[in-house]
Amino acid sequence: MRQSVQEDAAPPLNIPLCAKYMRSFAYKTMKDRLPIILTKIIDGLVREKENVISCHGEKAREELKKVIGYISQLKNELQTDKPFTELSLIGTDAEIWNKHLKDNAKEIGVIPSYFQTDWMYAECYIYRRLQEAFLNTESLKKFDPFHWQKKEALDSAMRPIKSLAVLLNNIVVKNSNHSKDEIKNNFICLLKIALWGNKCDLSLSCGGAVSVDDNPLSMLKQYDHYMLVDDSEDVWKTLADCKGSTVDIILDNAGFELVTDLCLAEYLIVNCDIAKVRFRAKMMPWYVSDVMVKDFHYVINTLAEHQEPFSNIGNRWLNYVNQGKFEILADQFWTLPLNYYLMEKVDKELYDDLKSSKLLIFKGDLNYRKLVGDVSWPTTCPFKNALRGFHPAPLVSLRTLKADVVVGLRPGQAEETAAKASDWMLTGDFAVIQYDSEKHFS
Ligand code: F6P
Ligand code: MG
Repeated sequence: MRQSVQEDAAPPLNIPLCAKYMRSFAYKTMKDRLPIILTKIIDGLVREKENVISCHGEKAREELKKVIGYISQLKNELQTDKPFTELSLIGTDAEIWNKHLKDNAKEIGVIPSYFQTDWMYAECYIYRRLQEAFLNTESLKKFDPFHWQKKEALDSAMRPIKSLAVLLNNIVVKNSNHSKDEIKNNFICLLKIALWGNKCDLSLSCGGAVSVDDNPLSMLKQYDHYMLVDDSEDVWKTLADCKGSTVDIILDNAGFELVTDLCLAEYLIVNCDIAKVRFRAKMMPWYVSDVMVKDFHYVINTLAEHQEPFSNIGNRWLNYVNQGKFEILADQFWTLPLNYYLMEKVDKELYDDLKSSKLLIFKGDLNYRKLVGDVSWPTTCPFKNALRGFHPAPLVSLRTLKADVVVGLRPGQAEETAAKASDWMLTGDFAVIQYDSEKHFS
């Protein structure tokens, strides 16, 4: 008979993170955080039932009950570590997921389950199953159960967004008389703002509000002390001689973080001669606050409809979308449970598309985990090695640490940081700007 085995230990080195290790963040996530996230979805659906029905029609009344039942069962399966089941073939990605389930079962000799298989797979599987609950309906196929949380997050960030809008209105000036140094310094400042914007994900807070300082710019100097790796100079060098090129931002969270990404993107277009920024979004509701295409438009339209200075940035960004200078794309690969070194094999088209980029900017914790394969590397393992050959183009990760994996640190740096804050890897207080320029074959 199948047994759920838990070990009262930290994850051993050099293996994929897994919730079976009780002294890991994976365990805490699967045991505490995800059940809370699922419960909040159910509460939201119950609370907003009449609103949902008035938007999606009477059919939604019965279907909501089905969805709520499905999510309660999912929560129960998670809490009792049940084996994963195949998805129905409704989504375009279902076959890939079902093949992954078969392959994984073959590899580990047992059907994978929440606390026994790789954390990356288990956590992504929860979000994909959540999507299944809605795909199984007629009236709620496109329903986003995190919509309210994302909207609230944007509403509550309007003060810091105002500061950003004022800053951007001053520095985004075509053919300005800014010196080369000023242009570079402003770029690095916006790069760091986009980095620290990543503190605002709603998955770490289990959907609860995350506050942002009213003036993000004034906090930057102070935040520099929490930067473990800062390759921003290298990122800047990549952008020399980039007239007419494309940059990709592999997005993470909606709300404030997305606004910081849009600010950086506008600066790249106007002040750094980049012709186009492609934004890469998720195809389904993902890790609570991740950006879907509709969230991208929602944020820009909301700002455009507001008074100044919000409307200035919102309307300029709308124009860039209309002119094709900003492009928003959603590919299936971003919501598969796969690490990025597998992209070339699994989604050659996406990999080749990324190859045409001058720079790939990966936002956030989950993208970082997928870049480095979600393995408990020694913290001194070079970033390039952890990428295991993933290198469609020069790439940088802007990530605040919210999971117990990090690479590229100096010897002793992890210990020094742990002495300052024992939970340094988990709170989003520490961060890295990690850059990789060359292809590497391991
Ligand atoms: O829940 C797991 C996790 O990857 C955490 O490590 C992190 O808190 C969150 O999800 C996502 O963070 P981000 O939005 O920065 O990718
Ligand atoms: Mg996220």
